[in-house]
Amino acid sequence: MDRAEQFPIGAEVTVDELTETPYEVLDRLRLHEPVSFLPALNAWWITRRDLALEAMTNAETFTVDDDRFTTARILGTSMLNLDGPEHVRHRSAFVAPFRPKFVREVLEAQITTAATRLWNETVSGSGEIRTGIAGPLAVETILDLMGLDDVDSTEVLSWYSAFGEAITSLTVGAAVPPEIDSTLARLKSYVETAMSIDDAGVITDLVTNGVLRRDEIPAAVAVVLFGAIETSEAMTTNAFWHLLTHPESWHRLRSDRSLIPHAINESLRLEPAATWVDRYTTTNVELGSVMIPSGELVSISLLGANRDPDAFDNPGAFDIDRPNLAQHVTFVKGPHACLGLHVARAETQAAIEAALTWEAETGQAIALEHERAQSPHGLIFRRPEHLHITSGERRGY
Ligand code: HEM
Repeated sequence: MDRAEQFPIGAEVTVDELTETPYEVLDRLRLHEPVSFLPALNAWWITRRDLALEAMTNAETFTVDDDRFTTARILGTSMLNLDGPEHVRHRSAFVAPFRPKFVREVLEAQITTAATRLWNETVSGSGEIRTGIAGPLAVETILDLMGLDDVDSTEVLSWYSAFGEAITSLTVGAAVPPEIDSTLARLKSYVETAMSIDDAGVITDLVTNGVLRRDEIPAAVAVVLFGAIETSEAMTTNAFWHLLTHPESWHRLRSDRSLIPHAINESLRLEPAATWVDRYTTTNVELGSVMIPSGELVSISLLGANRDPDAFDNPGAFDIDRPNLAQHVTFVKGPHACLGLHVARAETQAAIEAALTWEAETGQAIALEHERAQSPHGLIFRRPEHLHITSGERRGY
């Protein structure tokens, strides 16, 4: 039996379907072919939460250390495509500034100040969440932390959209725009300049702690920036999208801000900014009664796992009272679990708080501009392209 006969649902899946509204097809895959093969992406696909966890926590069998790994082909070698001791070395160079204590005691106040300023500019300006607050907050936070605060954040945002698009192109077998090389060279030259001064935040620490060789630092920083920008921008935008399309939840946040982390988790569960992660099998392996040969690409669908009805009742609903909403796998479990998750959470929290504070101070209420409202979409990175808001006097919700 060939793969299309063995996995008929997987054989029918299209890139367009996964890009626009993948929920139904992911449900069918999870139910009938929880480990499937998708010719459209030339990859094995895992959509059940327990199997996703099994693969993401077993780096010996499901590795990122493979020359075909798309992010590394665009950005170069870094912790994202290393396993074993080399992965530990690369990751350990960056751990300190991402620890919860450092985020709480040092970064949170800076992020809150930036979010308040950006929010006020957004509502008095474009009224658009992604480009007004979510993206600029993500880029300013990480540039500042790395010690690249002189670099123009609008330019960096455009580079990272281009990197995201290039990775998507590679994934679907399309050509990568040649300008990507010069974009990356420009970014690396900024990092090299920062390496030669002695108060450039994390970059200075990397030069002095010597965990990474000097020639490894530019790609390592490029990857941390990549991890921090597209994803956090999408995380904040998606959180606003969920809350403003569920005004009763937004209303509850107004009087009880302790619900904000729940709302953020529930949004992360329903729309993980990075919808899947890639691994390569190092040996023939049986997963969910399916034999996957050695050397094959296996994609773990975080979107599929997060909507597994065996883990979450009524999984498609946005429910900020869900008792286990923090059990999503959006930040991945295992050795490659997201390094920046506390920073990212602080950004989205600060953006929501800035909006709630503005509402409380002005007596106004924000709402989605429904005519232009868009839901999250995208193949690998999902978010609404734009999220325009309006504001008016507060009535009812
Ligand atoms: C300040 C913000 C962020 C930074 C600095 C950051 C950085 C990183 C880094 C360096 C890694 C690689 C870890 C490793 O390989 O050991 C990583 C992994 C990951 N991050 Fe983040 N990240 C941020 C925000 C986010 C957000 C908002 C999301 C999704 C909503 C996200 C999703 C992921 C995922 C899925 C992985 C695992 C990749 C894999 O297993 O192949 N990250 N992050």
